[in-house]
Amino acid sequence: MIPRVFGVRTWAPLGVLASLAYCVPERREARAEAPRAAGPRSVDRSLLELKMVQVVFRHGARSPLKPLPREQAEWNLQLLEVPPQTRFDYTVTNLTGGPKPPSPFDSEYHKTILKGGMFAGQLTNVGMQQMFALGERLRKSYVEDTPFLSPTFNPQEVFIRSTNIYRNLESTRCLLAGLFQSQKEGPIVIHTDEASSEVLYPNYGKCWSLQERTRGRRQAASLQPGISEDLQKVKEGMGIASHDGVDFLSLLDNVAAEQVHRLPSCPALRRFAQTIEQRAVDTALYIMQKEDRESLQMAVGPFLHILESNLLNVVDPATPPGQTRKLYLYAAHDVTLMPLLIVLGIFDHKWPPFAVDLTMELYQHRESKEWFVQLYYRGEEQVPKGCPDRLCPLDKFLNTLSAYTLSPENYHALCSQARD
Ligand SMILES: *[C@@H]1O[C@H](CO)[C@@H](O)[C@H](O)[C@H]1NC(C)=O
Repeated sequence: MIPRVFGVRTWAPLGVLASLAYCVPERREARAEAPRAAGPRSVDRSLLELKMVQVVFRHGARSPLKPLPREQAEWNLQLLEVPPQTRFDYTVTNLTGGPKPPSPFDSEYHKTILKGGMFAGQLTNVGMQQMFALGERLRKSYVEDTPFLSPTFNPQEVFIRSTNIYRNLESTRCLLAGLFQSQKEGPIVIHTDEASSEVLYPNYGKCWSLQERTRGRRQAASLQPGISEDLQKVKEGMGIASHDGVDFLSLLDNVAAEQVHRLPSCPALRRFAQTIEQRAVDTALYIMQKEDRESLQMAVGPFLHILESNLLNVVDPATPPGQTRKLYLYAAHDVTLMPLLIVLGIFDHKWPPFAVDLTMELYQHRESKEWFVQLYYRGEEQVPKGCPDRLCPLDKFLNTLSAYTLSPENYHALCSQARD
């Protein structure tokens, strides 16, 4: 048995707060202990300066990953026609600027051809429009309402990272086309990682301990009380044999894709749509074991570490100029967003829809020089766990993250650790 190399309490809050000492005013303690009844301290927002924005988004609408054993919707190739306004050239590299790594996921999707001719998991023009619309919304916020970003793409202002899956790369293109109206002053480079070391989704291949803990849980989820009865009912209603390995995740995958594309789906699917979404969320929560902190850490800890480092780099006066960007974009997945939302205490028990975004703004007060974070999900303001208000003092926000962030070393240690 490998001994635990780090106890939760010994490392989690320390590193972050120690490194923050320089930016946290002395008054912090006193304020934290002020009676809650006094309400959150109100901050004059006109004195806040936007310093940095990070956006984590799910790709746009796509074809299903795996068709259901029943009458199929038609996924015809017209759905792949690129809307002209979303066109924008880009290059994909690995994390250090080398050639784009191979994508085993895309190779897998290409083996499944749906009725109508599309591959599984392909971004459609509906999805492209969704991403373009998200880009336009960001343009309104950060180019028009607040003159923060240049109106044309500038590589010195924007860092872009995506999972190396084609629908995510293409989603990123469309978002950028909306955000910069397809205007650029330099090359667009999208950074991707090898599938074997990717941390923008829970990486079961890389993280042995996560794989161990979740082994068999997808099947077990379908046997849980409540889930199992509903699954029986929905399958009967849809004429799917009860022994077919269909669960709520594959049902939702098909329902959500058919609904957003307004493709004729069987009436039962539509009738059960709400149950399917709710039970798919229950299933995902069961698999993720959200009460088990280490499972969540292994799922999103390394990605949280990246988001946290970006914040700290901006705040750190020792960071050389030119080392930080104004905007960080991360093209991720539903399985990324769910644990992120849970960790932040803002999960709404709805499946993260296509093209949804989690946006994190970093502000500095012009006079007091204090730092604040403002979080949005689906464009709506959020109050993260541990925060007194929507405008969250940076140290409080980092405290919430610190319970789950994992440095690469700690991630490696936790992933290779046998369970007690
Ligand atoms: C990126 O590719 C280059 C050239 O093939 C390689 O030397 C480098 O190690 C790769 N970087 C990463 C992070 O995989």
